[in-house]
Amino acid sequence: MNISVIGSGHVGLVTGACFADLGHQVLMVDHDRKKIAALKASKMPFYEPGLEELVHRGVEEDRLRFTTSTAEGVRHGTIIFLCVGTPARPNGEADLTAVEEVVRDVAQAVREYRLIVEKSTVPVQTGEWIARICRGSVRRGVACDVASNPEFLREGQGLQDFLHPDRIVLGVESKRAKELLLALYKPLNAPAVVTDVKSAELIKHASNSFLAMKISFINSVAQICERVGADVMQVAEGMGLDRRIGRAFLDAGVGYGGYWFSKDRGAVLRIAEKLGIDFQLLKATARVNAEQRQRLVKRVEEALWNLNRKTIAVLGISFKPDTDDLRDAPSIDIIRSLRQEGAVIRAFDPQAMAQAKALLPGVTFCKSAYEAVRGADCLILMTEWNEFKELEFARIKKLMRQPLVVDGRNLYQPKTLQQLGFRYIGVGRGEPWDQR
Ligand code: UDX
Repeated sequence: MNISVIGSGHVGLVTGACFADLGHQVLMVDHDRKKIAALKASKMPFYEPGLEELVHRGVEEDRLRFTTSTAEGVRHGTIIFLCVGTPARPNGEADLTAVEEVVRDVAQAVREYRLIVEKSTVPVQTGEWIARICRGSVRRGVACDVASNPEFLREGQGLQDFLHPDRIVLGVESKRAKELLLALYKPLNAPAVVTDVKSAELIKHASNSFLAMKISFINSVAQICERVGADVMQVAEGMGLDRRIGRAFLDAGVGYGGYWFSKDRGAVLRIAEKLGIDFQLLKATARVNAEQRQRLVKRVEEALWNLNRKTIAVLGISFKPDTDDLRDAPSIDIIRSLRQEGAVIRAFDPQAMAQAKALLPGVTFCKSAYEAVRGADCLILMTEWNEFKELEFARIKKLMRQPLVVDGRNLYQPKTLQQLGFRYIGVGRGEPWDQR
């Protein structure tokens, strides 16, 4: 099938490259000439495991092409996926300027049946606006459908999540659109939920909001564990075996980061407010998440007595492993707070160092975890990269000035480090913390 994908960000590029790998003829459209030129040379605009190889294969086998022309995209693809950015406005509302501009360009170029599919996360009722523009701009007598097909891709696991989804959500308003999209996704053998467009738009926002809330819930339980000396990992395991709860997204730590959770939460809050609904659970979710970062700073300060002129090694800066993305990463707030108290920061991240240097002037960036811990009074495990899982702690102890580990992602076993002579502070586990 001929498919066009407009927007080559995290969602668009994964979507296009995966559809090409499934055998479709994909044309990627982006107005950023530099990005298109780089993609033609198989140079990726961001790190995503496996994506570079997939794009390279698609380009080599002539199934994946790139253009800056929206009209060319409309000519090529019977199905046109909208994957343009929907950034948050200052009040949290999704900025749909790019969506409207692209839809107008697409609608004016349509000469035969086209299915326009919202893939970017958009507020409910966006589909209605797109259909209105199409009705007003598409040449008379030419049929054009609008559908919602939200993505649930996680950064760092984008290819996996696209090719092995839990479900495909298809918000459609016509039989033709439904049949086209069911045929397109058939090779993935995933359960398909066919709804109206508005319900599909809401499924995405509600899912992301719920996931963020689940994380803040377990982080609140972790605060109780810290007071009473319980282990939140054991609590999460016991909770997660209840199939109504599920173990995923019950990992306590410094809290969630990333572009999507905070953006989607803000968008849902604004949608609710505009509808006269006070979504209190979502407000509390963000409050707990922000607090989690400052609690870690407080914990380090209490463990070191004074932060001023203390050297702190931070392992991991990206908001999660297997990505170079620093958007809303907990590390940024935490490092800035520690530096405000006079701490000297040494940091290492396997992928995100280039971006981090621009965001964190004054931090010493090291080439390895072992270099980062040299002379440190405290090691903070911020992001649970695989390569931090099996560090040689006997060697680390010799390199550090004080054997203190603050495990921001509960990556390590307290007893293992304590037996090596470390003081272990986790999130909801390890040393109790009654900060009343
Ligand atoms: C999220 C949604 O998972 C995905 O479905 C949606 O399409 C985009 O937003 P992403 O932001 O890439 O994906 O990462 P995710 O794996 O969800 O993690 C988000 C944040 O939550 C990370 O900072 C991660 O460290 C944190 N997290 C995740 C926790 O703190 N605890 C958990 O148990 C899980």
